Amino acid sequence: MNAVFVGIDLGTSSVKLILMDENGHIVRTVSKEYPISFPKPGWSEQSPEDWYVQSVSGLHELCSGYEAQVRGISFGGQMHGLVCLDAQDQVIRPAILWNDGRTGEECEYLNRIIGRDVLSAETGNIAFAGFTAPKILWMREHEPENYAKIAKIMLPKDYLAYRLSGVHATDVSDASGMLLFDVKNRRWSEKMCEICSVKREWLAQVFESYEVIGTLRPEIAWELGLSADVKVIAGAGDNAAAAIGTGTVGNGDCNISLGTSGTIFIASDRYTVDQQNALHSFAHANGKYHLMGCMLSAASCNQWWMGEILRDRDFAAAQAQITELGDNHVYFLPYLMGERSPHNDPLARGAFVGMSMDTGRAQMLQAVYEGVAFGIRDSFEVAKASGLGISRTKICGGGAKSPLWRKIMANVLGIAVDSIESEEGPALGGAMLAAVGCGRFSSVEEAAAGIVKVTGTVEPDAETAGKYEARYQVFRQIYPALKQVYPLL
Ligand code: XUL
Repeated sequence: MNAVFVGIDLGTSSVKLILMDENGHIVRTVSKEYPISFPKPGWSEQSPEDWYVQSVSGLHELCSGYEAQVRGISFGGQMHGLVCLDAQDQVIRPAILWNDGRTGEECEYLNRIIGRDVLSAETGNIAFAGFTAPKILWMREHEPENYAKIAKIMLPKDYLAYRLSGVHATDVSDASGMLLFDVKNRRWSEKMCEICSVKREWLAQVFESYEVIGTLRPEIAWELGLSADVKVIAGAGDNAAAAIGTGTVGNGDCNISLGTSGTIFIASDRYTVDQQNALHSFAHANGKYHLMGCMLSAASCNQWWMGEILRDRDFAAAQAQITELGDNHVYFLPYLMGERSPHNDPLARGAFVGMSMDTGRAQMLQAVYEGVAFGIRDSFEVAKASGLGISRTKICGGGAKSPLWRKIMANVLGIAVDSIESEEGPALGGAMLAAVGCGRFSSVEEAAAGIVKVTGTVEPDAETAGKYEARYQVFRQIYPALKQVYPLL
């Protein structure tokens, strides 16, 4: 009987599950949504129980008919989220997510008083609102009764893996985003634990992303009709998992993800830190490293503008109205949840600039797509300034399904954009890590070479790219002009 592997992408709007056969073909996909709450402007929370309930419901559907063939399960997960467990392993409060901006003061303390140099030397990174450790400092200050109950802190996909396997584990790529991890040496930093009021015993055991952490709990296996021998593999943060799913594993390979967040991910054989710490320096899921820029709102800007504001769900028809690429007087700043890379400003907010009486919906929608592409370009510029020569990129995530957005991206960045057979980057990456963990492939690289296929490429066109170059030079002046205003909002 042929083996199949499960990849679970624990995302921000939904959990996406895929079943992959041993040759890398996707047999079935299932997706289940859950709510997100924004209790205050810039705050963002979810219920870990919702993740678990929806994932198990998804697993039922996904595995139905294939139960006897499932060998391994692994994950890609939204990064940085803080899940706190008490001594009985019960969740203490809703998870504080990666795009939550409440920790401005804590980040200021870490970056200014403790010092960026200390943080960077210990972890390869500075503090960003949304990273895990500043949230602990926030809890100690604002929710001392909850802080006092903490016995474990976990990342979202690790909490799910714990519920499925009973093992408290994490992987190097996701641990990198906690600001408690010595990325270079792939181990916890005792010094950062001390600085951030974290007890060492709260932290999970660290694995490489393709390593087996355990097997399914017998009662879960029974409930799902699976064997209790099914292996649970550590998995990766969603960006590292997406990079595996798009074959971004070679030194200098690049992947852009247009999901709720927007990221540019550059794989690296060596540990490197950019001088300004504008890019994250994290461990990769293949045993190596990567640099990454992360925008907090990418495809979510499209959902917000089309869904929340225009109440129009016909994305294809709206996009068909956009024909004049490069010619648009409207600019959009995509900072609906503040911004991470490169501005590190939780107070930043979205803005449309440049409308006139002849501006219509098409120009404003176009500005939204362009604003996200310009935001990615900001991080791309930092990568270029650090000497990384990037001549092409893969692309994945919901936004990558749009040919228009891919074209805008290629022309704004001035590089070729390759699309992959499957846009399910993190879920596919998770299934591939499961396959490696179960011994189907000898390495992540071998899995990527055997499974990932480029199906199309958008090349930039000189005239359009030239127009976008001029527009980008305007775009990059708008944030500095508004920066002083944001604290007043
Ligand atoms: C990466 C980041 C986001 C989330 C989204 O640093 O915060 O990409 O992982 O799920």
